[in-house]
Amino acid sequence: MGGDEIKFVQEAFDTNWISPVGPHITGFEEDLCRYNSIAHCAALSSGTAAIHLAMIILGVERGDEVLCTSFTFSGTCNSIAYLGAIPVFIDSEEETWNMDPDLLRKSIEDRIRKNGKKPKAIIVVHLYGMPSKIQEIMSIAREYEIPVIEDAAEALGSDYQGKKLGTFGDFGVYSFNGNKIITTSGGGALVAENAAWIQKSRFLATQARDPAPHYQHSEIGYNYRLSNVCAGIGRGQMKVLDERVKQRRANFDFYVKQLGNIPGITFPAEPKGMYANRWLTTVIVDPKKTGGITRETIRLALEAENIESRPLWKPMHQQPVFKDYPAFVNGVSDKLFEDGLCLPSGSNLTQVDLERIVNVIKSLF
Ligand SMILES: Cc1ncc(COP(=O)(O)O)c(C=O)c1O
Repeated sequence: MGGDEIKFVQEAFDTNWISPVGPHITGFEEDLCRYNSIAHCAALSSGTAAIHLAMIILGVERGDEVLCTSFTFSGTCNSIAYLGAIPVFIDSEEETWNMDPDLLRKSIEDRIRKNGKKPKAIIVVHLYGMPSKIQEIMSIAREYEIPVIEDAAEALGSDYQGKKLGTFGDFGVYSFNGNKIITTSGGGALVAENAAWIQKSRFLATQARDPAPHYQHSEIGYNYRLSNVCAGIGRGQMKVLDERVKQRRANFDFYVKQLGNIPGITFPAEPKGMYANRWLTTVIVDPKKTGGITRETIRLALEAENIESRPLWKPMHQQPVFKDYPAFVNGVSDKLFEDGLCLPSGSNLTQVDLERIVNVIKSLF
């Protein structure tokens, strides 16, 4: 926490706005719009809820196909299944580890050929805060007239050529889950330039209550709004977002400086024009060049010192629950999962913490 969060929370208590409506929700939405230079925002209970509502508004229905990055967290694609739609997974390119534009084009043409119709939507992810090749992806999506949901759950604060991630697609999604670069304990947001869509998302998120003095419902609704108390935390967090990005990037720079010269250890570079929030510092360990040391050797050595690290996300096309869905794969995310590790990346790591971590890793070499 940055310090001001508790003042906003106290204000919610003092004014008795303990509710999923209230001035902090509006304030937090305005902060997010201003920060990202986007017109409209709905604060919601989670990033998953935001993706779910975006798909409903885009008309995704049972049996429709939705193209989705495979190398991601399950929160990206669970709501495709909530709707009875079919996820079609697209593998990554090597540079940013995100959706491969060539495979995206190939998959669209394949689905049109096989199904006689286009996929209903594309969900593109900016994993670990690294921008995807979003301009290429958007131009393919525009060519085929398929709407794009940009999952920037991990990428608040990142940008592509100065434009904030989450603002390229038809919809953008952020998450404020406890592990994210800023948090409201749990929460999310849906953003768009289209006012009617965001208005519709608020309506659906409030149990789809029709405008009437009594309770009347003409559509199925959801209870997906953020609490005014949590939005107060969010308003405080927005004040320290840029500082958090700086801290995360400093963690990354420290790891690269300390470990980047070890043969077989590589860190993902930031391609030209891209600015990554470095939400998590990730490292690739090539056992052919490290003399047999694997990412698991490193993970276990850290664990023995009570330091948590974690393999990269296991691709969705490898997940037991999703493995039977169509997938366009090229081996890139399989390899990343095999060789990649997320190092401790908290904004509150001290110099002593960081040195302890790199010393454990260095001792293996
Ligand atoms: C890439 C990605 N998409 C979606 C989500 C879902 O967000 P939430 O946890 O707020 O539902 C997360 C994180 O939790 C995520 O990392």
